[in-house]
Amino acid sequence: MVRPKGKSDLGTVDAVTRCRLWLTTAALALAGCAGPFPQSTLRPRSDYGRAIDHLFTDIFWWAVIVFVLVEALLLIALVRFRHREGRPAPKPARGNTALEIGWTLAPAVILVLVAVPTMRTILATAGDAPSDALKVEVIGHQWWWEYKYPNLGIVTANEMHVPVAKPVQVSITSADVIHSFWVPRLAGKRDATPGHVTRMAFRADSVGEYSGQCAEFCGVSHANMGLRVLVDSDSAFERWVKTEQGGPEAPAPASPVERGKAVYSRSACLACHTIQGVSPGVMGPNLTHFGSNTTIAAGMFANDPAHLAAWIADAPSLKPGSLMPRMQPPLSDAEVAAIVAYLQSLK
Ligand code: CUA
Repeated sequence: MVRPKGKSDLGTVDAVTRCRLWLTTAALALAGCAGPFPQSTLRPRSDYGRAIDHLFTDIFWWAVIVFVLVEALLLIALVRFRHREGRPAPKPARGNTALEIGWTLAPAVILVLVAVPTMRTILATAGDAPSDALKVEVIGHQWWWEYKYPNLGIVTANEMHVPVAKPVQVSITSADVIHSFWVPRLAGKRDATPGHVTRMAFRADSVGEYSGQCAEFCGVSHANMGLRVLVDSDSAFERWVKTEQGGPEAPAPASPVERGKAVYSRSACLACHTIQGVSPGVMGPNLTHFGSNTTIAAGMFANDPAHLAAWIADAPSLKPGSLMPRMQPPLSDAEVAAIVAYLQSLK
């Protein structure tokens, strides 16, 4: 094939251009690694998280030692025994007993040094917590998380509150398909399997928000099944418990909030959502304190009026496969706005 004096062909591009191309590609690829890293297991903030991080670091350094040794021996062999003009082929060595025992034993010893801390970490993170630990039951749903605090009488969704520096005992199951509960900075993954309860225990080091994600493919909105764990100071946690245990704040009469409550109370929302003292549904998230959530739809959107209005009018168009149906018959804009005002008042 005849080419015009080649510039369009990559094979004929000069070295400088090729180097520039590589640098640009590498810069673009590395841009994907820019922080912050809200879901990094390498920045643990709990006893469980640190146990995994230590194990990873230990095994990483063993792997580095093995890599350096093997590559060094390989390079030495390549250089020393490479073919040279006029030199006879080196004599092959056979049956060096000491060498063979050595390279059988050395990996065995390294495997023991990896296996012992691994087993120790598995046992330490098996999910046992002291009997006074805060108990939380996690139930995976397509595609949101339900939390029950059996000893506190609290039921909530998607945002889990726990106190700092106190042991937490989490039991995990599912209402439909297999999910996996994962908050990388606090603990490893645990499957949420229907008809089966798995356990996890952790003690968070520092107050803050820790985001997590369903880690088992569970259907069309698997990627939208986020969650957040809010680690509170003791006093903040107590305040949260008090608020959750009471009913929602009573709205001021004849306010937009009051109108919203009236619209809500004759809507289809009732069938699926609980608002304590208002509606009994259990198919969807409990909304009793919805206004204190910072996000909606399992972490997909900020809990602001615009997102919430769009969500109420037509959830499946925002979250593929959402089991919350499009409103039929549709609510008027004023009705949606009233429900938004009401829901956001539920602190
Ligand atoms: Cu639930 Cu993936």
